[in-house]
Amino acid sequence: MDKLIFLDNGATSFPKPEEVYTFMDHFYRNFGVNPGRSGYDLCMETGELVETTRKMLTDFFNGKDPNRLCFSCNSTDALNLIINGMLKEGDHAITTTIEHNSVLRPLYHLYKYSGVELDYIPFDDKGFVDPYDFPKKFKKNTKLVIVNHASNVIGTIQPLKEIGRYCKENGIPFGIDVSQSAGKIPVDMEELNADIVAFTGHKSLLGPTGIGGLYVREGIEIRHTRAGGTGVRSAVPTHLDEYPYRLEYGTMNTLGVAGLHAGLKWIQKKGLEYIHNHEMKLTTMLRDGLKNVEGVITYCQDDLTDHISIFLFNVKGLEALDTGTILDVDHNIACRTGLHCAPLAHKQLGTDKIHGGVRFGIGPFNTEEHIKAAVEAVKEIAETRR
Ligand SMILES: Cc1ncc(COP(=O)(O)O)c(C=O)c1O
Repeated sequence: MDKLIFLDNGATSFPKPEEVYTFMDHFYRNFGVNPGRSGYDLCMETGELVETTRKMLTDFFNGKDPNRLCFSCNSTDALNLIINGMLKEGDHAITTTIEHNSVLRPLYHLYKYSGVELDYIPFDDKGFVDPYDFPKKFKKNTKLVIVNHASNVIGTIQPLKEIGRYCKENGIPFGIDVSQSAGKIPVDMEELNADIVAFTGHKSLLGPTGIGGLYVREGIEIRHTRAGGTGVRSAVPTHLDEYPYRLEYGTMNTLGVAGLHAGLKWIQKKGLEYIHNHEMKLTTMLRDGLKNVEGVITYCQDDLTDHISIFLFNVKGLEALDTGTILDVDHNIACRTGLHCAPLAHKQLGTDKIHGGVRFGIGPFNTEEHIKAAVEAVKEIAETRR
């Protein structure tokens, strides 16, 4: 059988740049010790890689203080730290219907079990929220607005700058989920008026699974929701207040940091503009190839301005899962079907009734040949179905 065509980069990027594999192997063989206050050379070298990567990520998001960049397991972990550490009974939070469950579920838990009030801003028929809808929902007890930068379902880039401006004017902390956008388009927290950024390492940042983090602007208060070892000041009985230890717990995934370090370096070498242009050229090819095919329904893909390379479609008369299975079994194409952990987005698109959609996620290593094959495969499935 032909080689696998991987179009599931929205779930995780694969493959990684060769440099990521090489550097992780080199790092773990030579420096795979636990960083902390011990003075031996290996420990210092490992610690240095962690601190250098903190600095690189801080610069990447245009943060000011590398100490306020905390590593976590992934963005779900970071978002839980943010949401649970910022909201308490009687508070109000605003989010959107285009969020991932890593935002929706922690918020819903607080609503259900801790008396936190929630408002959800819907997106329009092109897949964008209207920034002006946010201040209409602001209340005295609004303590957090949290919105994703780019949708993992339809790929639309949300107008964060304007939402952030309203939040800033009203003194409401603004958190952004950049899980899909970081590594594809610039994430400049100053420009976007964001106070907190949550990221994951294994998607477009091209690192491995198990590493992510958050950046917290000075003045933003996130309570401890966990406690444990920090490797420093062990005699203090409570978890440390100072950053980055405040939001880091236990032995760090240094191997993950190493991979993320190499992924970031690769992105910097190629440039975000190059990566985004390449991916959007392929997304446009896909859109054009499937636009007028009878029996293919696409969602919010007509205008690819303010989009990342995520493409959602269905074949009329087939459930998404069946289309995905045919793509896999007959065409050796990997994609992601279902609700994509974003049930409210699918509900609004009306795709929840047919168990979701088929998502192609295009990455930096996809080629025109991959897209041509995907277009032909979907055409064939639609034709057979007719
Ligand atoms: C928009 C968005 N937010 C959050 C996440 C969660 O990422 P992770 O599973 O790495 O925590 C994802 C992953 O699919 C996502 O697409």
